[in-house]
Amino acid sequence: MIKILFVCLGNICRSPMAEAIMRDKIKKADLAQEIIIDSAGTEGYHTGETPHNGTQKILTEYNIPFDGIYARKFGKQDLAEFDYIIAMDESNLRDIKHLANNENINKISILYDWVENCKWKSKSVPDPWYTRNFQQTFNLINEGCEGVLNTICRRNT
Ligand code: 4NP
Repeated sequence: MIKILFVCLGNICRSPMAEAIMRDKIKKADLAQEIIIDSAGTEGYHTGETPHNGTQKILTEYNIPFDGIYARKFGKQDLAEFDYIIAMDESNLRDIKHLANNENINKISILYDWVENCKWKSKSVPDPWYTRNFQQTFNLINEGCEGVLNTICRRNT
């Protein structure tokens, strides 16, 4: 069993989008029985909430289910439990590494790193909480998750 956790700041815009997209991809690749996907936020501002309306809207447009996804705060136990902890932006990456305090550091990465020959302007997935551009964020996360599928998921199952 491989356990993958996506992490952003609030766990209502980007990381739940990544969780839903990744679940959809592994299901379509017939790998759902072998991989666990989850998401969390480095802050707990929105704990217990469903994904942001903008995230719900774009996932619905692409026919990607998001039922059962509720915001929760990232914690130290996640560093022990998950095999891959994938940050959405460089600020999330710093916060996760800070909490890790040099333990389990090899499990921590950023989504950008899983895209081969990545052409993104920045290593960070822009936060639609501020940009309001859920389509741009969807496109990058979808590309990132395709990279995760082809590297982590297909290589390890
Ligand atoms: P996310 O976006 O990290 O992609 O879920 C945000 C959600 C909420 C806030 C900031 C970013 N907030 O400040 O409440």
